[in-house]
Amino acid sequence: MSSQYDEIGSGYGQVRREDPRIREVIHASIGDASSVVNIGAGAGSYEPADREVTAVEPSAEMISQRPPGLAPAVQAAAEALPFEDDSFEAAMAVLTVHHWSDARKGLDEMIRVASRRILIVAFEPDPLIELWIAADYFPAIQELKSEPGADSREIVSMLPGSEAEVIPVPRDCSDLFFAALWGHPEMFMDDGIVGPMWVWQEMSEIAREAGRQRLAADLENGEWDRKYGQLRQLDELDVGLRLVKLEL
Ligand SMILES: C[S@@+](CC[C@H](N)C(=O)[O-])C[C@H]1O[C@@H](n2cnc3c(N)ncnc32)[C@H](O)[C@@H]1O
Repeated sequence: MSSQYDEIGSGYGQVRREDPRIREVIHASIGDASSVVNIGAGAGSYEPADREVTAVEPSAEMISQRPPGLAPAVQAAAEALPFEDDSFEAAMAVLTVHHWSDARKGLDEMIRVASRRILIVAFEPDPLIELWIAADYFPAIQELKSEPGADSREIVSMLPGSEAEVIPVPRDCSDLFFAALWGHPEMFMDDGIVGPMWVWQEMSEIAREAGRQRLAADLENGEWDRKYGQLRQLDELDVGLRLVKLEL
């Protein structure tokens, strides 16, 4: 099985380091479920160490980045999970549904294999699109085509009875996913940080470099700080990250 993440995933594990505050929100919602399947598990972020975990991941590159000590991953896709009905008490999926070729099928599979609850971390696009990153310097992000079902509101509508809660993203977030850079414009100059990100790779080289050059100039001449410097004073921000929860 090959995957887009076989190409862009190298270095991913170093950038996507679990943030303890986000981990707490996710783990609190896993609640008392004793077995968990983590779908689109990547390098294993946010898997609870104190439960029986099974990881599912289609990309061999991502599987190879799972730290020793984590449960080995089953190489499979969300749309066809190789498990019996009700095999796990909980099913989780973190920042992955926007990659699935068929979100409806993947969500149905989560419902089939989980007996008690489903947890999905996804983005509601509007706060993200209004943020300076996409609104000002990298407008190409607004055009990026994720798979249908990527928007957390669509996921809620596909899972009747589910609800979404805001996961605020701390400014000193250790998990450097794209939107987590909201208070650190300098990090956009670092290929080691932005390079492994899907959003970065999906933009054209021209769009990336044009945005970077303007951002570098505005950081140098103080324009970024005049316009957005107040963000440096905030501890956390709603950048659109949502936890969608469904009790079965
Ligand atoms: C942004 S990464 C997130 C990884 C991990 N959940 C995390 O938060 O660090 C998205 C992951 O979804 C995986 N993925 C892509 N298509 C998938 C599919 N159809 N089913 C399951 N996972 C998929 C990718 O290979 C990648 O590892």
